[in-house]
Amino acid sequence: MKFELVNLSYATDALEPVISKQTIEFHHGKHLQTYVNNLNNLVPGTKFENVGLETIVRESEGGLFNNAGQVLNHTLYFTQFSPDGGGKPSGKLAAAIDAAWGSFGNFQKELETAGVGLFGSGWVWLAKDEDGKLSITKEANAGNPVTKGLTPLLGFDVWEHAYYLDYQNRRADHLKDLWKIVDWKVVESRM
Ligand SMILES: [Fe+2]
Repeated sequence: MKFELVNLSYATDALEPVISKQTIEFHHGKHLQTYVNNLNNLVPGTKFENVGLETIVRESEGGLFNNAGQVLNHTLYFTQFSPDGGGKPSGKLAAAIDAAWGSFGNFQKELETAGVGLFGSGWVWLAKDEDGKLSITKEANAGNPVTKGLTPLLGFDVWEHAYYLDYQNRRADHLKDLWKIVDWKVVESRM
């Protein structure tokens, strides 16, 4: 199976000022493209030639896991934003967030705290288990909640390549601003 770079549904400058055109061009066009290329070079000759991306992430290790994980992570990441994003979730997702954290505001604080507290590079995720119960997971490097049997709903990239051009060392400010571009319709569709 050949993996492709996910298309953006928005212009490269459409998420400014939260994510600049330059960051999108490097992050999507260079970093993610490299993970896609590496994955396509690593899969041939392995038992993963005819399986989907999530299966590779769940069952592989080493370089294959790192590149497959980053392709999955960034595909979820770049498709969860919109220039018309922001606001709050609704319906089943809003109810599940209230059940887990008491309020949307508390959930936002918890996710931001998890992201600020993650040492080095990685991701923080809102994930659900098979009963629909939500949790926040912190994943180092290329990690994704699918390796824990969970479904990823929303992921914030805390690798410096995601924010350094725009926010330098201010990871906390970047995470706080990301809420302005989250497309909750997309996140809800992952429930
Ligand atoms: Fe990234």
